[in-house]
Amino acid sequence: MKEKITVFGSFAVDLMARTPHLPVPGETVKGSMFKMGPGGKGFNQCVAAKKAGANVTMITKLGRDTFANVALDTMTALDIPKDHIMFSEDVSTATALIMVDETTSQNEIVVTLGACETISKEDIEKVKNEIIESDYLLVQLEVNIDAVENVVKIAHENGVKVILNTAPARPIDEALFSMIDIITPNEVEAEILTGVHISDETKAQEACNIFFEKGVKNVVITLGSRGVFVATPDESKFIPAFKVNAIDTTGAGDAFNGGFCTALAEGKSIWEAAKFGNALAALSVTRLGTTTSMPTREEIDVLIKEIVD
Ligand code: RIB
Ligand code: NA
Repeated sequence: MKEKITVFGSFAVDLMARTPHLPVPGETVKGSMFKMGPGGKGFNQCVAAKKAGANVTMITKLGRDTFANVALDTMTALDIPKDHIMFSEDVSTATALIMVDETTSQNEIVVTLGACETISKEDIEKVKNEIIESDYLLVQLEVNIDAVENVVKIAHENGVKVILNTAPARPIDEALFSMIDIITPNEVEAEILTGVHISDETKAQEACNIFFEKGVKNVVITLGSRGVFVATPDESKFIPAFKVNAIDTTGAGDAFNGGFCTALAEGKSIWEAAKFGNALAALSVTRLGTTTSMPTREEIDVLIKEIVD
């Protein structure tokens, strides 16, 4: 059985340039290629889940501008319901200026949230039923934080499992932690939220213990190209990444989260789900772009099978 996932979060148009090196302040660098496409952490995670086979809907807010069409067209193409898209009449659709170093594949991003920062209590009231009717709420920190807190509370109070991806890093209300079924920080976010520098597995467990003390039920710390550290109250395991040739790591965390949640909604264990998420992340970094680099279910299954055989 496939349970239902609702993603609550950002959509942004990604304006990506690849460059021989990332510019220092005051420097102008000649880029080697430019690509515009759909992005935003929420949207990336929704598309990752959809392409992986999930029953998923997206709640986000757009402006009344041409950039909004990038979201709407993608949703039409992928058959993602548009019923829960909200619009701001005066604030523009979010954008992300992304620079990728073509040698190291490291990136720098400036995201301007625009309409994604104007999600009001009234907006949430309109989408409340959609959240309540879901089995999983997958949420990030890329819209106004009061909206995040509000939807997490609604989900938690109605028995919807909450997966919080703490990206981009920002402070959150301590009261929120006890409403989170699974938190999925990367190592930088985990350090900001727990104060523990994650240098090895012992330190990762230490950070997880702090999350447990705060009331979080399960913790998944993503460790980039190394893999993920998964901790439940009874057991912890390091789940290694699939080894691939990375050309653009932007959105890899989103690929992981979308895949991870998809697998959970199919009834897979948290360990299997982490492995499934790792497969999406690995495939996504072998391609340019964010939303557009999310793999199909077939590609995911092939990669997982290759490693098992
Ligand atoms: O996680 C990657 C995303 O972060 C990009 O798609 C960009 O929109 C930024 O918000
Ligand atoms: Na990519």
